[in-house]
Amino acid sequence: MKILVTGSSGLIGSEVCSYFAKHGHSIHGVDNNQRAVFFGPQGDTTWRLKELQKSLTDFSHHELDIRDRQNVMDLIKKIKPDAIVHTAAQPSHDKAASIPFDDFDVNAVGTLNLLEAARQFCKDAPFVHMSTNKVYGDAPNNIKLKELENRWDYDDKAYENGISESFSIDQCKHSLFGASKVAADVMVQEYGRYFGMATCCLRGGCLTGPSHSGVELHGFLSYLVKCNIEGKTYKIFGYKGKQVRDNIHSEDVARFIGLFINSPRIGEVYNLGGGKDNSCSILEAFEICESFSGNKQRYEYLDENRVGDHICYYSDLTKIKEHYPEFAFRNSLESTIKQIIIAQSSRS
Ligand SMILES: NC(=O)c1ccc[n+]([C@@H]2O[C@H](COP(=O)([O-])OP(=O)(O)OC[C@H]3O[C@@H](n4cnc5c(N)ncnc54)[C@H](O)[C@@H]3O)[C@@H](O)[C@H]2O)c1
Repeated sequence: MKILVTGSSGLIGSEVCSYFAKHGHSIHGVDNNQRAVFFGPQGDTTWRLKELQKSLTDFSHHELDIRDRQNVMDLIKKIKPDAIVHTAAQPSHDKAASIPFDDFDVNAVGTLNLLEAARQFCKDAPFVHMSTNKVYGDAPNNIKLKELENRWDYDDKAYENGISESFSIDQCKHSLFGASKVAADVMVQEYGRYFGMATCCLRGGCLTGPSHSGVELHGFLSYLVKCNIEGKTYKIFGYKGKQVRDNIHSEDVARFIGLFINSPRIGEVYNLGGGKDNSCSILEAFEICESFSGNKQRYEYLDENRVGDHICYYSDLTKIKEHYPEFAFRNSLESTIKQIIIAQSSRS
């Protein structure tokens, strides 16, 4: 198959390129290193592009901005991919407020450009879109919580397995990022339901792995490990450092995308994170990281939480496992953190 991957130098995109290349497919990567524009030199993904160019045999890189509608149309018309995996994005909740037009143009309009190009030139190609749990806005914060020694947890039986896809995305605070991703998410569903295309939104929890170019504003574990290894101070924003995220290795995300492309469905939505078993609070992540690196984590506590930040979020994986029973994680939270430490130590 010819697979077109947007955001191909980023965490998820590059993992997807490697995954499909290993399975003998031909890969077309689209990335313009916009992450470096969003986050400065720390967000530069050129190192990852070079790795892909060196290690993958059938990989073509296209330096293209997904906002460039005409060139997106022309590229998809020319390649006519058998599947599209869309991971390019402005990915930061906090950053969006300072660049609202860029955020919406990349996340919402860029997604529409790709969907429409796909409809015109490769309508039968499965289209997988990386969405986010921020489409649920801050509404998960209204669930009754209990405070444990090192973390928050749900204190409501209805959420013992986490947040499911039926959770409301409406009438709550999303951040501008959450709103632009809702627009994209709903449009991806619509191209499925309205035009009968095999589209899918993956509402990610914390997606992580050794290939992330983590920065303070995006890439929770990657940035936390970076601080630990380099002896930098990590800033905790509110909630006593007990805020909980569920973490999934990018390789497991890529494997799920492979399952969906092999057996696609129309206009689907899945929550995809590490689930309860791979969730941790910031304080717990410090502990795991310290146990592997041997370095005491330096941190500073700030009372004010990030606007709209989740106090406790983990994905209910019931639906994804029901639809794709063969899907199982290969990487636990501990092993993922260990891999990030090893990779970052060798890069620094
Ligand atoms: N990492 C997470 O924790 C997380 C959580 C939930 C959802 N997601 C979603 O998953 C997707 C991938 O996230 P990631 O962590 O791999 O991000 P990333 O920033 O590592 O990768 C995104 C890539 O897209 C590229 N890009 C950005 N704008 C572009 C544009 N206009 N044209 C072409 N390329 C462009 C960037 O240069 C970057 O290489 C995003 O949609 C993000 O919202 C990520």
